[in-house]
Amino acid sequence: MNDRNEILNKFYNEICDEDTRLDSKHAQLEFLTTDRYVQKYLKPGCRILEVGAGTGKYSLYYAKQGYKVNAIEYVQSNLDVLKSKITNEMDIVAEQGDAVDLSRFADNMFDLVLVLGPLYHLYAEEDIHKCIREAKRVCKKDGIMMFAYLPNDSVMISWALLKGNLKTGYDNKQFDENFEFCSEPSEVFRTFYIDEVEKMMDANGIKKITNVSTSGVSQHFKNIVDNLSEEEFEIWKNYHFSSCERKEVQGYSTHLLYIGRKM
Ligand SMILES: C[S@@+](CC[C@H](N)C(=O)[O-])C[C@H]1O[C@@H](n2cnc3c(N)ncnc32)[C@H](O)[C@@H]1O
Repeated sequence: MNDRNEILNKFYNEICDEDTRLDSKHAQLEFLTTDRYVQKYLKPGCRILEVGAGTGKYSLYYAKQGYKVNAIEYVQSNLDVLKSKITNEMDIVAEQGDAVDLSRFADNMFDLVLVLGPLYHLYAEEDIHKCIREAKRVCKKDGIMMFAYLPNDSVMISWALLKGNLKTGYDNKQFDENFEFCSEPSEVFRTFYIDEVEKMMDANGIKKITNVSTSGVSQHFKNIVDNLSEEEFEIWKNYHFSSCERKEVQGYSTHLLYIGRKM
């Protein structure tokens, strides 16, 4: 077992309950926002690939809407949960696989390629570029690719400040003198700066459409957001939707989404 395999299996089997991750009010925003952007590009007959499908929140949702979906997931236990929820009316194939090697798929197969997870957990530059190139290869010309990623400064808030890790993080050199996180497998998550992601996509010939904050700062304030009344949550959600493409709000958002087109 390599490092990544061991670390991801341990994290998703023992620490993170992926299947309930998006259930709370504060976390729902990530799903609602991502879906808002996905819906802009869906047309009848679209073929969708989700890489890093987890327990299937997105893949099953789009399969239920009648789209033909392929789902690839690295961790077997997450894939098992996804598969257990497939129903007869869904046109979906879910398989174990790695975002860095999509060779089971031919070139130019999908209208929409969702990579909502792998960039959280790929550490080597070479693997990150392979993941981007593979998503692009299997995407049709003029097709859409969406890559979720974690911004560096948000982890400074969520993990270092709010979880009380400032001193241990500093002492253990988990971030450097510029407060950039050390993105190694032992840290489980890989963080990015927005410019860094845009340059990587550019270098791989992907044309940027937009960059979106999918979860905003709601996770940092989860106790407050989860206790909002339905009416207050509606206002907060609409504020989030209206501000999520603004650079000002993005670096402290817990999840970002790069959206690009294959030219
Ligand atoms: C935080 S979960 C997100 C799941 C789902 N896409 C969503 O957005 O709710 C990240 C998922 O990506 C998977 N993953 C991480 N690296 C991967 C890789 N290299 N190839 C395929 N899946 C990967 C993880 O196992 C995990 O299930």
